Amino acid sequence: SLIPMILAGGKGTRFWPVSRAHRPKQFLALDGGNRSLLQVTGDRLTAMGIARSQMWVVTSEMLAAGVREQMPEVPCENVLVEPQGRDTAPAVAWATLTVAERYGDDAIVGFFPADHWIADTDAFARAIDAATKLAASTTAIVTLGMAPSFASTGYGYIERGTPVGEFAGMPAYRVSRFTEKPDGETARAFLDAGCFSWNSGMFVFRAGVALAELDRHAPEILQPLRASGKDAYATLPKNSIDYALMEKTAHAYVLPAEFGWDDLGDWNALERLFKGDRDNVELAIHVGRDTKNSIFYASDSNETIATIGLEDIVVVRDRNVTLVAHKSRTQEIKKLLQQLQTDA
Ligand code: GDD
Ligand code: MG
Repeated sequence: SLIPMILAGGKGTRFWPVSRAHRPKQFLALDGGNRSLLQVTGDRLTAMGIARSQMWVVTSEMLAAGVREQMPEVPCENVLVEPQGRDTAPAVAWATLTVAERYGDDAIVGFFPADHWIADTDAFARAIDAATKLAASTTAIVTLGMAPSFASTGYGYIERGTPVGEFAGMPAYRVSRFTEKPDGETARAFLDAGCFSWNSGMFVFRAGVALAELDRHAPEILQPLRASGKDAYATLPKNSIDYALMEKTAHAYVLPAEFGWDDLGDWNALERLFKGDRDNVELAIHVGRDTKNSIFYASDSNETIATIGLEDIVVVRDRNVTLVAHKSRTQEIKKLLQQLQTDA
Protein backbone atom coordinates (compact mmCIF):
# COMPACT_ATOMS: atom_id res chain seq x y z
CA SER A 1 0.00 0.00 0.00
CA LEU A 2 0.92 3.62 -0.38
CA ILE A 3 2.18 6.05 2.23
CA PRO A 4 0.74 9.42 1.25
CA MET A 5 2.91 12.46 1.91
CA ILE A 6 1.35 15.88 1.33
CA LEU A 7 3.79 18.63 0.36
CA ALA A 8 2.52 21.76 2.04
CA GLY A 9 5.43 24.04 2.79
CA GLY A 10 5.33 26.44 -0.16
CA LYS A 11 4.93 30.20 0.11
CA GLY A 12 2.26 30.66 -2.56
CA THR A 13 3.61 34.14 -3.21
CA ARG A 14 1.89 34.56 -6.56
CA PHE A 15 -1.49 34.55 -4.83
CA TRP A 16 -0.61 37.60 -2.78
CA PRO A 17 -2.31 39.55 -1.22
CA VAL A 18 -4.73 36.78 -0.26
CA SER A 19 -1.85 34.36 0.26
CA ARG A 20 0.40 35.75 3.00
CA ALA A 21 3.36 34.38 4.94
CA HIS A 22 1.36 32.71 7.72
CA ARG A 23 -1.59 31.84 5.54
CA PRO A 24 -0.32 30.79 2.09
CA LYS A 25 -2.58 29.51 -0.62
CA GLN A 26 -2.70 25.89 0.56
CA PHE A 27 -4.67 27.09 3.60
CA LEU A 28 -7.19 28.95 1.46
CA ALA A 29 -10.30 27.97 -0.46
CA LEU A 30 -9.49 29.93 -3.57
CA ASP A 31 -12.74 28.95 -5.26
CA GLY A 32 -14.76 30.72 -2.58
CA GLY A 33 -15.84 27.36 -1.12
CA ASN A 34 -15.13 26.30 2.44
CA ARG A 35 -12.44 23.62 2.05
CA SER A 36 -8.84 24.75 1.70
CA LEU A 37 -6.53 23.37 -0.98
CA LEU A 38 -4.78 21.38 1.75
CA GLN A 39 -8.03 19.92 3.02
CA VAL A 40 -9.16 19.09 -0.50
CA THR A 41 -5.85 17.29 -1.07
CA GLY A 42 -6.64 15.18 2.00
CA ASP A 43 -10.24 14.64 0.85
CA ARG A 44 -9.02 13.22 -2.47
CA LEU A 45 -6.88 10.68 -0.63
CA THR A 46 -9.77 9.85 1.72
CA ALA A 47 -11.92 9.13 -1.32
CA MET A 48 -9.30 6.51 -2.28
CA GLY A 49 -9.84 4.76 1.04
CA ILE A 50 -6.86 6.30 2.85
CA ALA A 51 -7.79 7.48 6.35
CA ARG A 52 -6.46 10.84 7.53
CA SER A 53 -4.80 8.96 10.38
CA GLN A 54 -2.53 7.34 7.78
CA MET A 55 -1.58 10.57 6.02
CA TRP A 56 1.66 12.49 6.38
CA VAL A 57 2.37 16.15 5.76
CA VAL A 58 5.72 17.86 5.28
CA THR A 59 5.64 21.58 5.93
CA SER A 60 7.63 24.45 7.43
CA GLU A 61 7.80 25.62 11.03
CA MET A 62 5.84 28.74 10.21
CA LEU A 63 2.95 26.71 8.81
CA ALA A 64 2.89 23.73 11.14
CA ALA A 65 0.24 25.13 13.49
CA GLY A 66 -2.01 25.89 10.54
CA VAL A 67 -1.57 22.37 9.16
CA ARG A 68 -2.49 20.81 12.51
CA GLU A 69 -5.52 23.05 12.77
CA GLN A 70 -6.75 22.22 9.28
CA MET A 71 -5.90 18.50 9.42
CA PRO A 72 -6.49 17.62 13.09
CA GLU A 73 -6.91 13.90 12.33
CA VAL A 74 -3.37 13.56 10.93
CA PRO A 75 -1.30 12.14 13.82
CA CYS A 76 1.06 14.71 15.30
CA GLU A 77 4.14 12.58 14.56
CA ASN A 78 3.11 12.38 10.89
CA VAL A 79 3.49 16.14 10.48
CA LEU A 80 7.12 16.66 9.50
CA VAL A 81 8.20 20.18 10.32
CA GLU A 82 11.11 21.67 8.40
CA PRO A 83 13.00 24.38 10.31
CA GLN A 84 12.86 26.47 7.14
CA GLY A 85 11.66 26.10 3.56
CA ARG A 86 14.45 24.92 1.24
CA ASP A 87 12.14 24.05 -1.66
CA THR A 88 11.00 20.54 -2.49
CA ALA A 89 14.29 18.61 -2.84
CA PRO A 90 15.11 18.72 0.90
CA ALA A 91 11.42 18.20 1.78
CA VAL A 92 11.17 15.08 -0.38
CA ALA A 93 14.56 13.77 0.74
CA TRP A 94 13.89 14.21 4.45
CA ALA A 95 10.34 12.83 4.24
CA THR A 96 11.56 9.79 2.29
CA LEU A 97 14.34 9.16 4.82
CA THR A 98 11.80 9.34 7.62
CA VAL A 99 9.47 6.87 5.91
CA ALA A 100 12.36 4.49 5.17
CA GLU A 101 13.43 4.59 8.83
CA ARG A 102 9.89 3.87 9.97
CA TYR A 103 8.71 1.35 7.37
CA GLY A 104 11.82 0.17 5.53
CA ASP A 105 13.25 0.73 2.06
CA ASP A 106 10.46 -1.10 0.26
CA ALA A 107 7.74 1.21 1.55
CA ILE A 108 6.05 3.00 -1.31
CA VAL A 109 5.68 6.74 -0.84
CA GLY A 110 3.45 9.06 -2.84
CA PHE A 111 4.05 12.81 -2.82
CA PHE A 112 1.03 15.04 -3.26
CA PRO A 113 1.39 18.81 -3.70
CA ALA A 114 -1.25 20.82 -1.89
CA ASP A 115 -1.88 23.31 -4.68
CA HIS A 116 -3.73 21.24 -7.26
CA TRP A 117 -7.20 21.32 -8.69
CA ILE A 118 -8.45 17.91 -9.84
CA ALA A 119 -11.82 17.36 -11.48
CA ASP A 120 -12.25 13.58 -11.61
CA THR A 121 -11.37 11.98 -8.29
CA ASP A 122 -12.07 8.43 -9.53
CA ALA A 123 -9.70 8.78 -12.48
CA PHE A 124 -7.13 10.28 -10.11
CA ALA A 125 -7.48 7.27 -7.79
CA ARG A 126 -7.00 4.85 -10.72
CA ALA A 127 -3.83 6.67 -11.78
CA ILE A 128 -2.38 6.52 -8.26
CA ASP A 129 -3.22 2.82 -8.11
CA ALA A 130 -1.38 2.27 -11.41
CA ALA A 131 1.59 4.33 -10.16
CA THR A 132 1.74 2.27 -6.96
CA LYS A 133 1.77 -0.98 -8.94
CA LEU A 134 4.49 0.31 -11.25
CA ALA A 135 6.63 1.46 -8.32
CA ALA A 136 6.11 -1.85 -6.51
CA SER A 137 7.22 -4.03 -9.42
CA THR A 138 10.21 -2.02 -10.74
CA THR A 139 12.80 0.51 -9.57
CA ALA A 140 10.67 3.31 -11.00
CA ILE A 141 10.36 6.87 -9.83
CA VAL A 142 6.87 7.37 -11.20
CA THR A 143 5.47 10.66 -12.42
CA LEU A 144 1.94 11.31 -13.63
CA GLY A 145 1.98 13.02 -17.00
CA MET A 146 -0.69 15.57 -17.86
CA ALA A 147 -1.61 16.43 -21.45
CA PRO A 148 -0.18 19.92 -22.07
CA SER A 149 -2.63 22.48 -23.40
CA PHE A 150 -0.47 25.60 -23.78
CA ALA A 151 3.22 26.54 -23.77
CA SER A 152 3.41 27.03 -20.01
CA THR A 153 6.80 27.98 -18.58
CA GLY A 154 5.65 27.12 -15.05
CA TYR A 155 5.69 23.35 -15.39
CA GLY A 156 8.15 20.52 -15.92
CA TYR A 157 8.01 18.75 -19.30
CA ILE A 158 8.41 14.99 -19.65
CA GLU A 159 9.33 13.30 -22.91
CA ARG A 160 7.85 9.83 -23.22
CA GLY A 161 10.41 7.14 -24.10
CA THR A 162 10.14 3.35 -24.41
CA PRO A 163 6.78 1.82 -23.45
CA VAL A 164 7.05 -0.62 -20.54
CA GLY A 165 3.60 -2.19 -20.55
CA GLU A 166 0.36 -1.54 -18.71
CA PHE A 167 -0.24 -1.08 -15.01
CA ALA A 168 -3.83 -1.23 -13.77
CA GLY A 169 -4.85 -0.77 -17.39
CA MET A 170 -2.70 2.31 -17.96
CA PRO A 171 0.26 2.34 -20.37
CA ALA A 172 3.54 3.40 -18.80
CA TYR A 173 6.72 4.74 -20.39
CA ARG A 174 10.28 5.39 -19.46
CA VAL A 175 11.10 9.09 -19.33
CA SER A 176 13.65 9.95 -21.98
CA ARG A 177 14.00 13.57 -20.89
CA PHE A 178 12.72 15.75 -18.06
CA THR A 179 12.99 19.53 -18.42
CA GLU A 180 11.89 21.71 -15.53
CA LYS A 181 10.28 25.07 -16.35
CA PRO A 182 11.70 25.62 -19.85
CA ASP A 183 11.75 29.05 -21.47
CA GLY A 184 8.85 30.01 -23.71
CA GLU A 185 10.47 28.97 -26.96
CA THR A 186 11.45 25.54 -25.66
CA ALA A 187 7.99 25.05 -24.15
CA ARG A 188 6.41 25.83 -27.53
CA ALA A 189 8.72 23.31 -29.26
CA PHE A 190 7.83 20.62 -26.67
CA LEU A 191 4.13 21.31 -27.12
CA ASP A 192 4.40 21.07 -30.91
CA ALA A 193 6.43 17.84 -30.76
CA GLY A 194 3.44 15.95 -29.35
CA CYS A 195 5.38 13.42 -27.26
CA PHE A 196 5.67 15.48 -24.07
CA SER A 197 3.55 15.55 -20.94
CA TRP A 198 3.48 18.13 -18.18
CA ASN A 199 4.84 16.87 -14.91
CA SER A 200 1.96 16.87 -12.44
CA GLY A 201 4.38 17.23 -9.52
CA MET A 202 3.10 14.03 -7.90
CA PHE A 203 5.71 11.31 -7.43
CA VAL A 204 5.39 7.66 -6.42
CA PHE A 205 8.40 5.46 -5.62
CA ARG A 206 9.89 2.92 -3.27
CA ALA A 207 11.70 4.83 -0.54
CA GLY A 208 14.95 2.93 -1.11
CA VAL A 209 14.92 3.62 -4.85
CA ALA A 210 14.60 7.37 -4.38
CA LEU A 211 17.22 7.41 -1.63
CA ALA A 212 19.71 5.57 -3.83
CA GLU A 213 19.07 8.03 -6.64
CA LEU A 214 19.35 11.03 -4.30
CA ASP A 215 22.64 9.61 -3.01
CA ARG A 216 23.86 9.54 -6.58
CA HIS A 217 22.50 12.86 -7.88
CA ALA A 218 21.95 15.05 -4.82
CA PRO A 219 24.43 13.97 -2.12
CA GLU A 220 24.75 17.62 -1.02
CA ILE A 221 21.17 17.30 0.22
CA LEU A 222 20.85 13.68 1.32
CA GLN A 223 24.20 13.24 3.12
CA PRO A 224 23.69 16.05 5.65
CA LEU A 225 20.12 14.86 6.27
CA ARG A 226 21.33 11.30 6.86
CA ALA A 227 24.01 12.58 9.24
CA SER A 228 22.04 15.09 11.30
CA GLY A 229 18.37 14.90 10.35
CA LYS A 230 16.54 18.18 10.34
CA ASP A 231 19.40 19.97 12.07
CA ALA A 232 21.04 19.90 8.64
CA TYR A 233 18.51 22.34 7.20
CA ALA A 234 20.43 25.51 7.99
CA THR A 235 23.20 24.43 5.64
CA LEU A 236 21.16 22.79 2.88
CA PRO A 237 21.07 24.38 -0.56
CA LYS A 238 17.69 25.49 -1.87
CA ASN A 239 16.57 23.34 -4.77
CA SER A 240 13.48 21.64 -6.14
CA ILE A 241 13.20 17.88 -6.59
CA ASP A 242 12.63 18.49 -10.29
CA TYR A 243 16.10 19.98 -10.82
CA ALA A 244 17.88 17.99 -8.13
CA LEU A 245 16.57 14.55 -9.09
CA MET A 246 14.04 14.31 -11.92
CA GLU A 247 16.20 15.97 -14.58
CA LYS A 248 19.06 13.62 -13.70
CA THR A 249 17.75 10.20 -12.76
CA ALA A 250 17.58 7.34 -15.26
CA HIS A 251 14.80 5.71 -13.20
CA ALA A 252 12.02 8.14 -14.13
CA TYR A 253 8.82 6.68 -15.58
CA VAL A 254 5.66 8.39 -16.67
CA LEU A 255 2.03 7.33 -16.61
CA PRO A 256 0.07 9.65 -18.87
CA ALA A 257 -3.19 10.29 -17.04
CA GLU A 258 -6.30 12.41 -17.50
CA PHE A 259 -8.36 13.62 -14.63
CA GLY A 260 -8.87 17.31 -15.26
CA TRP A 261 -5.89 18.93 -13.59
CA ASP A 262 -4.54 22.38 -12.88
CA ASP A 263 -1.77 23.73 -10.69
CA LEU A 264 -3.20 26.76 -8.94
CA GLY A 265 -0.01 28.66 -9.60
CA ASP A 266 -1.21 32.25 -9.89
CA TRP A 267 -4.38 34.32 -10.30
CA ASN A 268 -4.74 33.34 -13.95
CA ALA A 269 -5.56 29.80 -12.84
CA LEU A 270 -8.96 31.09 -11.69
CA GLU A 271 -9.70 32.02 -15.26
CA ARG A 272 -8.95 28.52 -16.53
CA LEU A 273 -11.25 27.10 -13.85
CA PHE A 274 -14.13 29.52 -13.62
CA LYS A 275 -14.43 31.70 -16.69
CA GLY A 276 -16.25 29.47 -19.16
CA ASP A 277 -17.99 31.79 -21.61
CA ARG A 278 -18.56 34.54 -19.06
CA ASP A 279 -17.12 38.02 -19.63
CA ASN A 280 -15.09 37.99 -16.41
CA VAL A 281 -14.23 35.82 -13.42
CA GLU A 282 -16.11 37.33 -10.50
CA LEU A 283 -15.28 36.01 -7.03
CA ALA A 284 -16.46 39.32 -5.58
CA ILE A 285 -19.41 41.54 -6.29
CA HIS A 286 -18.35 43.10 -9.55
CA VAL A 287 -20.24 45.80 -11.40
CA GLY A 288 -18.67 46.63 -14.73
CA ARG A 289 -19.31 48.61 -17.86
CA ASP A 290 -17.50 47.31 -20.92
CA THR A 291 -15.08 45.32 -18.79
CA LYS A 292 -13.97 41.95 -20.10
CA ASN A 293 -11.52 39.06 -19.68
CA SER A 294 -10.67 40.25 -16.21
CA ILE A 295 -10.47 38.57 -12.81
CA PHE A 296 -12.03 39.99 -9.64
CA TYR A 297 -11.50 38.49 -6.22
CA ALA A 298 -12.37 39.75 -2.75
CA SER A 299 -11.70 37.79 0.43
CA ASP A 300 -14.82 39.36 1.89
CA SER A 301 -17.49 38.38 -0.60
CA ASN A 302 -19.60 41.40 0.36
CA GLU A 303 -17.14 43.80 -1.18
CA THR A 304 -18.03 45.52 -4.40
CA ILE A 305 -15.54 46.19 -7.17
CA ALA A 306 -16.77 48.62 -9.80
CA THR A 307 -14.97 49.03 -13.12
CA ILE A 308 -15.30 50.83 -16.43
CA GLY A 309 -13.72 49.78 -19.68
CA LEU A 310 -11.06 47.36 -18.43
CA GLU A 311 -9.57 44.41 -20.23
CA ASP A 312 -7.14 41.67 -19.11
CA ILE A 313 -6.84 43.00 -15.55
CA VAL A 314 -6.69 41.25 -12.18
CA VAL A 315 -8.11 43.02 -9.13
CA VAL A 316 -7.73 41.38 -5.73
CA ARG A 317 -8.97 42.84 -2.44
CA ASP A 318 -7.79 41.39 0.85
CA ARG A 319 -7.97 43.16 4.19
CA ASN A 320 -5.98 46.42 3.85
CA VAL A 321 -4.48 45.62 0.44
CA THR A 322 -5.70 45.93 -3.13
CA LEU A 323 -3.73 44.47 -6.01
CA VAL A 324 -4.38 45.72 -9.53
CA ALA A 325 -2.29 44.04 -12.20
CA HIS A 326 -2.22 43.22 -15.86
CA LYS A 327 -3.06 39.55 -16.31
CA SER A 328 0.06 38.89 -18.36
CA ARG A 329 2.33 40.08 -15.52
CA THR A 330 1.10 38.25 -12.43
CA GLN A 331 4.40 36.31 -12.37
CA GLU A 332 5.99 39.59 -11.20
CA ILE A 333 4.14 39.60 -7.87
CA LYS A 334 7.26 38.05 -6.28
CA LYS A 335 9.30 41.06 -7.35
CA LEU A 336 6.57 43.45 -6.29
CA LEU A 337 6.64 41.96 -2.81
CA GLN A 338 10.40 42.44 -2.56
CA GLN A 339 9.89 46.06 -3.55
CA LEU A 340 7.15 46.42 -0.96
CA GLN A 341 9.46 45.09 1.74
CA THR A 342 12.26 47.51 0.87
CA ASP A 343 9.95 50.49 0.40
CA ALA A 344 7.97 49.96 3.58
N1 GDD B 1 7.52 21.02 2.78
C1 GDD B 1 7.77 21.87 1.79
N2 GDD B 1 8.91 22.63 1.84
N3 GDD B 1 6.90 21.97 0.77
C2 GDD B 1 7.19 22.84 -0.22
C3 GDD B 1 8.35 23.64 -0.23
C4 GDD B 1 9.25 23.53 0.89
O1 GDD B 1 10.28 24.21 0.99
N4 GDD B 1 8.34 24.40 -1.36
C5 GDD B 1 7.21 24.07 -2.02
N5 GDD B 1 6.49 23.14 -1.34
C6 GDD B 1 5.22 22.51 -1.71
C7 GDD B 1 4.20 23.51 -2.20
O2 GDD B 1 3.35 23.92 -1.12
C8 GDD B 1 3.44 22.71 -3.24
O3 GDD B 1 2.37 21.98 -2.65
C9 GDD B 1 4.46 21.71 -3.77
O4 GDD B 1 5.49 21.63 -2.77
C10 GDD B 1 5.06 22.08 -5.13
O5 GDD B 1 5.75 23.30 -5.02
P1 GDD B 1 5.52 24.49 -6.04
O6 GDD B 1 6.40 25.61 -5.60
O7 GDD B 1 4.06 24.77 -6.21
O8 GDD B 1 6.12 23.87 -7.38
P2 GDD B 1 5.76 24.30 -8.87
O9 GDD B 1 4.29 24.29 -9.08
O10 GDD B 1 6.47 25.58 -9.17
O11 GDD B 1 6.44 23.14 -9.75
C11 GDD B 1 6.22 21.76 -9.48
O12 GDD B 1 4.89 21.38 -9.75
C12 GDD B 1 4.50 21.50 -11.14
C13 GDD B 1 3.06 21.04 -11.27
O13 GDD B 1 2.24 21.63 -10.35
C14 GDD B 1 7.20 20.96 -10.34
O14 GDD B 1 7.16 19.61 -9.91
C15 GDD B 1 6.86 21.06 -11.83
O15 GDD B 1 7.68 20.18 -12.59
C16 GDD B 1 5.40 20.66 -12.03
O16 GDD B 1 5.04 20.78 -13.42
MG1 MG C 1 2.72 24.45 -7.78
